[in-house]
Amino acid sequence: MADITKLTDGERAIVDEYHRLYYPFFRDTTWLGVIARKCPFDLFVYQELIFELRPDLIIECGTADGGSAVFLASICELVGHGEVVTIDVRARDSPKCPRVSYWQGDTLSPDVLTRFESLVQERESVMVILDDDHTRDHVLEELRTYQRFVTPGNYLVVEDTNINNHPVFPEFGPGPMEAVGTFLRETSEFSVDRSREKFFLSFNPNGFLRKKGTNRCLPTRTESGFPNPERAEKLASQGQQIKSLEAQLQHERATLHSVLNSKGWRWLNRVRDARAWAQRLVPW
Ligand SMILES: C[S@@+](CC[C@H](N)C(=O)[O-])C[C@H]1O[C@@H](n2cnc3c(N)ncnc32)[C@H](O)[C@@H]1O
Repeated sequence: MADITKLTDGERAIVDEYHRLYYPFFRDTTWLGVIARKCPFDLFVYQELIFELRPDLIIECGTADGGSAVFLASICELVGHGEVVTIDVRARDSPKCPRVSYWQGDTLSPDVLTRFESLVQERESVMVILDDDHTRDHVLEELRTYQRFVTPGNYLVVEDTNINNHPVFPEFGPGPMEAVGTFLRETSEFSVDRSREKFFLSFNPNGFLRKKGTNRCLPTRTESGFPNPERAEKLASQGQQIKSLEAQLQHERATLHSVLNSKGWRWLNRVRDARAWAQRLVPW
């Protein structure tokens, strides 16, 4: 797999130059006719995450036109699982879309947090995307607050870590990248997953934070292609059964091996050999 950490300085400079060239036009991206303020490479990565992790719930902070929420929900629809709750402080005329709920409010208001608290209770797999106010202090507060909603093995994605000269929008001032730096010094529960930057150009460098632990067990890929959710569950349970049978077989083998090598077994064999020898001498 392409590894962004292995780029030479020259290669890095090419990627950054393209990043700066493309950045002024990112609002031209639409999904099903709705503006999605995203880098298309990152949208593709979200598709991969949703397919792999099958989140029950995706919390998106920052709706704007709704294109990213509609995109996430479209992928949920394709895999037949999951819903999106997207929140914005501004009231908007948002596109109607199955699997998307639009909330209005400040992401850090106590009311909103209480609603999220009860929403995540029944969910086994939850992803969070921070894409609203990009100032460092706000993002840091969100990271500290929203980390608890993310389930083990799932992702807390910090959008737009590329601003403040990483490598675009140098005049922005401390932003998401700086917030991530501070957050990661405070916790060992999350780590940056740079493999999610495999297309090299990402608006979220160091922004795909994976929570320690394992997402609920679902096969990610099979040789036969893309399992639908029921088939995926079935395959997962068959996989578990095979694993447990293999473990049982291993155990039986070890037991047999230790019996055959035991003193008692060797002694029995000697008795049996002696009896056979005696019978040959005295056949009647
Ligand atoms: C970058 S845009 C979201 C882009 C959208 N996720 C997309 O990819 O198309 C940021 C949005 O966050 C909203 N916002 C800013 N501060 C907020 C806050 N404290 N709580 C909720 N929404 C906020 C703004 O109104 C704006 O619509």
